[in-house]
Amino acid sequence: MAIERTLSIIKPDAVAKNVIGKIYSRFEEAGLKIVAARMVQLSRAEAEGFYAVHAARPFFKDLVEFMISGPVMVTALEGEGAILKNRDLMGATDPKKADAGTIRADFADSIDANAVHGSDAAETAAVEIAYYFPALNVYSR
Ligand code: PPS
Repeated sequence: MAIERTLSIIKPDAVAKNVIGKIYSRFEEAGLKIVAARMVQLSRAEAEGFYAVHAARPFFKDLVEFMISGPVMVTALEGEGAILKNRDLMGATDPKKADAGTIRADFADSIDANAVHGSDAAETAAVEIAYYFPALNVYSR
């Protein structure tokens, strides 16, 4: 399987719950390596830019408000099949539907405050990593 890089964001609800370390442990135990990390207070323009693909969705305004409600931890992860592996660790978007033992099942409260973001494909991972870490190479080999 290819070595990939993917973007993870620990969202304001999980940062406020003080579970950054617990979430990072799950990445590490699954064989994902942290290759870049930043704690960021997103501006409205940054959040709107990051989620521009969802601009027409009914939840867009709420999503942006939530993402600027406090600091987030932005991380680039590297490992075999990192994109899918991270999505599996995260669980379903709605924590009520997330499998037991996933990050969202254990740490998220609602579909609005759902603890983590993860890139959903190689193309989006490349764009998302470049958005937060312009100097970092994005690759799959
Ligand atoms: S889709 O259709 O697959 O693109 O949608 P999805 O990946 O499930 O959701 C895209 C992002 O929007 C967030 N989301 C919501 N926020 C607030 N309210 C509602 N109802 C809602 N539904 C989805 C969801 O958490 C995704 O955010 P990220 O940061 O990408 O995980």
